[in-house]
Amino acid sequence: MTEKDFIPKKYSANVSNGSVTWESPSNIALVKYWGKKKNQIPENPSLSFTLSNCKTITTLSFVKKEEDDNSFTFDVYLDGDLKEDFRPKIQTFFERIEVYLPFLRQYVFKIETENTFPHSSGIASSASGMSALALCLMSIEKQLVSDSPFDEAFFNQKASFLARLGSGSACRSIEGDVIVWGETEAVEGSSDLFGVKYPYQVHGNFENYQDTILLVDKGEKQVSSTVGHNLMHNHPYALNRFQQAHDNLEELKVILESGDLDAFNALVESEALTLHAMMMTSMPYFILMKPNTLEIINKIWSFRQITGSHVSFTLDAGANVHVLYPQDEREQVLQFIKDELVVYCQNGHYICDQIGFGAIQNQ
Ligand code: PMV
Repeated sequence: MTEKDFIPKKYSANVSNGSVTWESPSNIALVKYWGKKKNQIPENPSLSFTLSNCKTITTLSFVKKEEDDNSFTFDVYLDGDLKEDFRPKIQTFFERIEVYLPFLRQYVFKIETENTFPHSSGIASSASGMSALALCLMSIEKQLVSDSPFDEAFFNQKASFLARLGSGSACRSIEGDVIVWGETEAVEGSSDLFGVKYPYQVHGNFENYQDTILLVDKGEKQVSSTVGHNLMHNHPYALNRFQQAHDNLEELKVILESGDLDAFNALVESEALTLHAMMMTSMPYFILMKPNTLEIINKIWSFRQITGSHVSFTLDAGANVHVLYPQDEREQVLQFIKDELVVYCQNGHYICDQIGFGAIQNQ
């Protein structure tokens, strides 16, 4: 597939108005994407678990304009409130995807969105938000080509392709449960343009894998991921890091098949710390971990050593900690979290999640 394959031929139907709703999840990368080329093409491949509970629900209503005014016309609401500050991001998104969805200037859109996780929780809503919006737009396109059947695989592929142009990691939020984005020899069919379902065997140990997100810092990110990605240009360790991501995907393939949780933990924690090491060694440099992030990491390591538990952690571009563990250790690890880790969370807040099965359309 190339970018050109996502440019539609002529639309056959005339649709004057309507409304579509999608629920789309967040995802957590195990092999991290950090660094991009032009047009949101990743510098390295990444692999993520799709989440179940952290979701964005978006309703997109649309009315055909009487006259073509050659502009994008939309309003965005979060929890019922008009959000003018969301406008520039959506405007940029529409500009990037217009060539693939040529109907965008012909309608007045109302985008109503809500998250199942608290806003200002420090959890990025861009993956779930952009994927939900991309899916809504695809549902409109599907109505516009009503005379020919719309292939479901293509629908998801194009939704992922569009979501990527909104926020890179959003392209991994369309389907479940394990997704790869970025071309790599390690995964057949992988692409820089969209996420693909991980095509190999996954051991039962990873079924319903748990992710408890400890909200260490609910503030705005000090450094946006766009700025962070750009700092990988001319980064002294960039090329080695990009190669390492390919190698780690090869290694993870073996681990996902064998169910070796010790090897899984070593790889996943190393990836998380490497992501932050890239931030700490860029110019300008920055640190997104907080003292409590490190307290939690040390507690997890000693708990694992003392009890033999398979709990581990990963990090996003922020201070919050994703605590990962197999389903059969849920009771024990949740007790450990309550007893020893909640004290490091802002207002004691954390979110229980687990690996999930992707976006769903609400009728
Ligand atoms: O999707 P973006 O541009 O916000 O980048 C997200 C990058 C990380 O979350 C740090 C890693 C990843 O692969 O999700």
